[in-house]
Amino acid sequence: MKLLVTGGAGYVGSHTVRALLEAGHDVTVLDNLSTGHRWALQDCELMSVDLRDALHLNQQLKGRRFDGVLHFAAKSLVGESKSNPILYYQNNVTGTANLVDAMLKAGIPRLVFSSTAAIFGNPKRDLIDEKHPKAPINVYGQTKLTVENMLESVTKSAGFSATCLRYFNAAGANNAANLGEWHDPETHLIPNALRAAAGTGQPLTLFGDDYPTPDGTCVRDYVHVDDLASAHVAAIGKMRKRGVFNTHNLGNGNGYSVKEVIAACEAAVGKEIPYKVGPRREGDPATLVASSAKARKRLNWEPKHDGIAEIAESAWRWECYRRDKLVLR
Ligand code: UFG
Repeated sequence: MKLLVTGGAGYVGSHTVRALLEAGHDVTVLDNLSTGHRWALQDCELMSVDLRDALHLNQQLKGRRFDGVLHFAAKSLVGESKSNPILYYQNNVTGTANLVDAMLKAGIPRLVFSSTAAIFGNPKRDLIDEKHPKAPINVYGQTKLTVENMLESVTKSAGFSATCLRYFNAAGANNAANLGEWHDPETHLIPNALRAAAGTGQPLTLFGDDYPTPDGTCVRDYVHVDDLASAHVAAIGKMRKRGVFNTHNLGNGNGYSVKEVIAACEAAVGKEIPYKVGPRREGDPATLVASSAKARKRLNWEPKHDGIAEIAESAWRWECYRRDKLVLR
């Protein structure tokens, strides 16, 4: 298929671009490079467009034929979403409304949307399936849920299909170790722990050890970024019919505590990672673990990397490459 990937220069987007190319698709990336990386893109055209600029977007899509869009471009920092909600509504909601409007005008019939576990808020059950109540506790989650609702409405009226893939904790790095996670600022646990170990980041703070979990620290479902990428390839391949709205939760179904993740990072690095225990971070639910039974069944999706050890090792290989080949170059 001929596919447009927005945010293809970002973390999950760039891994998915590689998986789509490997699966034989023709890929064009649309990215404003505000947080994405030009070096992460190989073997595909880059359209430099900001989705908030509807006029420019329509001009760029006019006369181009695409079979579908995978839409990663978004702001995704929970803390920043609280301090600057307008930025989040403009990028995530207005940007997606502009994109879907342009797709309808250009006759592009299908969209895969990057959604998040943050739409669920505090879990009511041990395993979160697609039907779990949606009650986001941060602005980032609210914007993603607003987009899901918007997409559902559009599919009902316009012969357009949308699949929302809700990631739990995206983690790890590409096997070749030349592609991985690089946010600025970095807020995620695994890169922060590894950078603390490598001496390239801040000392590590563990946010809260008084949660109602076995060791008192938050439990998350870490899913390898290449497994997320393969879910996107499966999802876009499955979208044959028009007017269909679908959602899938993507995780391994295993929860690891912050202390267990730090221990896995220590094993990957081969040394102790010092940390201090700080207060809880606002907006962090105690536990978030996915039921991905629907994706396994309907998309025939099987995550290949289900252990935190393997995820931490791949992230460490990437962190060494990033430090030696990209930062210190
Ligand atoms: N943590 C620390 N120290 C750090 C960073 C994180 O203790 O330096 C803790 C957090 O408090 C949390 C756990 O490690 O308990 C995981 O935190 P991350 O920031 O790595 O990931 P989140 O679970 O906060 O975020 C993920 C996605 C978000 C999404 C959110 C939904 O990355 O996009 O889940 O809750 F919004």
